[in-house]
Amino acid sequence: MEQENNHKISIRSARPADSDAIVQLQLLSIETLCAQDYNKEQLQAFLKSKSCPRYWDEKIFIAEIDQTIVGFAALQKYSHVITAMFVHPLHIRKKVGTTLLLHVEQVAMKKRTKKLLVYSSLTGKNFYARNGFTTICEYNILLENMVVFPSIKMSKQLLTKKTTKSSSKVFDPQSIQQKSILQLLLRVSIPSITMLLVYFFIKIR
Ligand SMILES: CC(C)(COP(=O)(O)OP(=O)(O)OC[C@H]1O[C@@H](n2cnc3c(N)ncnc32)[C@H](O)[C@@H]1OP(=O)(O)O)[C@@H](O)C(=O)NCCC(=O)NCCS
Repeated sequence: MEQENNHKISIRSARPADSDAIVQLQLLSIETLCAQDYNKEQLQAFLKSKSCPRYWDEKIFIAEIDQTIVGFAALQKYSHVITAMFVHPLHIRKKVGTTLLLHVEQVAMKKRTKKLLVYSSLTGKNFYARNGFTTICEYNILLENMVVFPSIKMSKQLLTKKTTKSSSKVFDPQSIQQKSILQLLLRVSIPSITMLLVYFFIKIR
């Protein structure tokens, strides 16, 4: 959660009852915000592709201010792809998107996801870049009637705790104890063996 001026942005999981509100917000966001980056044909095809309820295989998160929906994001349940990030045009540049993205990242990290992927609209490129995503390549999505919709494939490495074998050994008290005993034995036995060898050598001569 974060503050938007004096308003609290809260994030929750979407419910079936949110379905219509999600579609409406998505269409409004595209119409208003993406118009600057796409031509009419691309915009129409994009709007058409987003006019149905979203998919069952996504985890959808809703951003609210004073119990009003101001944005949403979606993460594919069985992969590491962000499939949606839309903010209401009246609430842009107030960190609604960033708050949603942080939430998505936390959910992904809990699932031990190491990397997030997104096929961002041209409109969202700077937003993702600002939030640590790097561009992989330009990616043309083919929409209805063979309309080409340019997007940007981007990714972000997530911070996960390192639990490598070597680091866990360093802090393993049992292995440290075993090492010390071995060192002690070597320290005691080497001079004794040397002395024994010298003794036998002198005796033989
Ligand atoms: C892209 C989008 C999700 C950003 O949401 P937002 O809530 O306005 O983003 P934030 O306020 O968290 O922005 C964080 C930073 O990202 C960058 N950023 C966000 N929108 C930007 C824009 N239109 N142009 C340039 N930089 C932008 C800025 O650096 C911003 O920080 P600042 O406002 O302090 O300069 C929103 O504009 C949107 O819904 N766009 C239409 C739908 C879309 O294209 N979604 C993208 C994925 S499909």
